[in-house]
Amino acid sequence: MRAYRAKVVEPISLPDREERVANLEKAGYNVFNLDSDDVFIDLLTDSGTGTMSQDQWAAMMRGDEAYAGSDSFERLRESVADVMGFKNVVPAHQGRGAENVLYGVLVSKGDYVPNNTHFDTTRAHVVNNGGDPIDCPTDAAEDDPFKGNLDPEKVRELADDVGAENVPALVVTVTNNSMAGQPVSVENVREARDVADELDATFVIDACRFAENAYFVQQREEEFAESSVAAIAREQLSYADAIVMSGKKDALSNIGGFVGVCDGNLFERAKQRGILFEGFSTYGGLAGRDLEAMAVGLREAVTQEYIESRVEQVRELGDLLRDVGVPIYTPTGGHAVYVDAEAYLPEIPREQFPGQVLVGELYREGGVRAVELGEFAFPDEDRPQLARLCLPRRSYFRDHLEHVAETFEKVSARRGELAGLEVVEEPPMKELRHFSARLEPVA
Ligand code: F0G
Repeated sequence: MRAYRAKVVEPISLPDREERVANLEKAGYNVFNLDSDDVFIDLLTDSGTGTMSQDQWAAMMRGDEAYAGSDSFERLRESVADVMGFKNVVPAHQGRGAENVLYGVLVSKGDYVPNNTHFDTTRAHVVNNGGDPIDCPTDAAEDDPFKGNLDPEKVRELADDVGAENVPALVVTVTNNSMAGQPVSVENVREARDVADELDATFVIDACRFAENAYFVQQREEEFAESSVAAIAREQLSYADAIVMSGKKDALSNIGGFVGVCDGNLFERAKQRGILFEGFSTYGGLAGRDLEAMAVGLREAVTQEYIESRVEQVRELGDLLRDVGVPIYTPTGGHAVYVDAEAYLPEIPREQFPGQVLVGELYREGGVRAVELGEFAFPDEDRPQLARLCLPRRSYFRDHLEHVAETFEKVSARRGELAGLEVVEEPPMKELRHFSARLEPVA
């Protein structure tokens, strides 16, 4: 049961079929190019798309015109210290700004950066600083409750191969977005801490979805069955030297991010780079109201009422899709349902982007926008061909989820007729291809 009700509403409408077909063609079969007004149920991302609470809106009104020594920043700093345990904070305009600040300080040419699995922007920032991003996911058994975990042995092997001195940082992403939003256990984070110590590497947690992860820990890791989500979140993050955060996820805000650091020296270096790229160290490219929204949102994110209804709604969508025969990654992740597009569209070869074909069809049949996370988003990487349906926080209702399931049924009915896609136009940086490339159906 959701422990809130709607207070502000945004009208949405389903364009008719002809318009949807034309819109998709005009967008070059890339849903990033669609106008959001032309989308009925927008499951592209959970990033900055959620509904804020009345307390967040009220706090925004007291946001100052932030620059040096802003009060709003002070309230964010206190909230980060209370909720996440980091007393030094470098604010940034969003998560990738925080990544640029931190990885710009930690990573140099020739370095290797292991991560349970890199998210696309993380990978791009490591590459941009001359580093080589290396995914080290666990080879999880089917019934493993923590399929998002890092494999510490893979990190040790990497360090043996390339030399520990070339591994400046070890990153753990919670939940593991590129691995179907699966959680990471506290035990695994403790192991990662040990490995980082062995290698003398800085241990970073990408904390974007730290509250969702903490809820899974409460439900699945025996040691924490009686702990509050707030206490688990603090404990899990306490093992890291630094965190990168997108406020657009578990700070329940529409914009914002930050780096949290323990060590004073690393903090100083990050702060200087923050000033260079993001803005002075008490606003980081944000207005005071944005800092306030994050300060309040972080505290709400770790309440049991909120986090339970959040993660359980995502599971509800997963269950509805399973009921209509859609092969989803199980168990359902924390922020999104991931569909195995290769299993769903077995006739379409990987090079013709089965995930992207499915994403296009969901729009065509029901005005639903999802995102591909397979060969199109991650070219030439041997990984599962997934389409992600991501739920914005506190925004949609059960009938919207049912519409998504009905849309899948319509796509399923036409499955045999669908053609693959080919890229006809793409930007120079391959890590960013899926944001703007254009495609066409294969003749
Ligand atoms: N790290 C992770 C794990 C993310 O999922 C994201 C964003 C970022 C960093 C970057 O944060 O968007 O605020 O710059 N993920 C969004 C998504 C975009 O749709 O999954 P940002």
